[in-house]
Amino acid sequence: MNKETPTLCYSDYLKLPILLNAQVPESTQYGQQAHDEMLFIITHQTYELWFKQILYELYSVLDLFAVLPLDEKKLYTLSTRLRRIIKIQGVINQQINIMETMTPLDFLDFRDYLIPASGFQSRQFREIELRLGLSHHLNSFSYGRFSKEDKTYLENSAQQPSLFELLDVWLARMPFLEFQDFSFWNSYNKAVQDMLDNDVKIIKNNPLLNTSEQDFQLQALQSTQQNFDCLFDKNKYRQFQQKGLFKLSYEATLAALFIQLYRDEPLLQLPFKLLNQLMDIDAELTQWRSNHALMVQRMVGTKIGTGGSSGHDYLKSTISGKRIFADLFNLSTFLIPRSKLPELPALLIRNLGFYPTA
Ligand code: HEM
Repeated sequence: MNKETPTLCYSDYLKLPILLNAQVPESTQYGQQAHDEMLFIITHQTYELWFKQILYELYSVLDLFAVLPLDEKKLYTLSTRLRRIIKIQGVINQQINIMETMTPLDFLDFRDYLIPASGFQSRQFREIELRLGLSHHLNSFSYGRFSKEDKTYLENSAQQPSLFELLDVWLARMPFLEFQDFSFWNSYNKAVQDMLDNDVKIIKNNPLLNTSEQDFQLQALQSTQQNFDCLFDKNKYRQFQQKGLFKLSYEATLAALFIQLYRDEPLLQLPFKLLNQLMDIDAELTQWRSNHALMVQRMVGTKIGTGGSSGHDYLKSTISGKRIFADLFNLSTFLIPRSKLPELPALLIRNLGFYPTA
């Protein structure tokens, strides 16, 4: 080391003088400092730091995903970064518990000083949503609360391909659904029909069911049949898609289902892991929305939020209204038991032992 170079110390490296002087309770300016405002500030700041790390990992995941083909090495790297995001989400979900040590009355000591500031204005949170796949929510009313600069930044972010969109492209390119003279979907259709015909027999021969119970169960089976139909008929799938029942393209859905069904094959193990990780990210985010909405109800009941939304009711609506990878969860509708799965041709099985180049 050069003699002139000053020795690096912990505090300088971490910029602690900046970091530890960035907690400035609003209540002090109005007379007496509200004790719990420090916790409120530090909790939010910690969240923002973790959001920064999530975005950092997400940019790298998006970059990797944007260049196809994805070989095993890249998929592995992708998966380790996704895993890190999931672990961080686990930690920030727990942090709500610390916030809840503040009572509603303690919160009221400084709540009004915060108006009109609100979590609505967390640019990093919105960017995480956009980058994951919620760019179609960009025009929702909460965007009105951002500064001009933040709005432009978010609009630009929304123009970039999201993780959801890149996933769709990657899945839709999967090469192994038609193989020489073997069409997987014809065989799968037949296996599904055999399974459903068998179910009809079981219902009709069940001595415990009376006629109306039998009719009820047969009707339910018919709607299952209709769900399956859209797998084998692209037009039907599109109709379901227009109703908002699917977001993934037809081709991507078929590929994702194939991965789920044959996930034991060496070639499909990493893609299967990746699909599960995306579901974990969605589940953790949904969990956060739910924990946060409940905490808000506990803190302010049915009062409106400092950002001007209806508060708890608005936040509750985002729990189911802002799912990102729900399609992957819904694939379970189309699973059939392993014992009924079509056998794949030997050559295809052999190919699935290696990594694809598509
Ligand atoms: C006492 C604690 C808290 C209360 C009472 C509270 C209240 C609210 C309310 C009422 C909203 C709806 C927007 C509005 O009208 O203001 C909101 C949104 C939000 N809050 Fe909190 N919050 C609390 C803690 C936190 C924490 C610790 C974070 C962590 C970053 C956070 C992040 C957010 C985000 C990102 C939104 C936007 C959510 C969306 O639009 O989907 N909040 N909060």
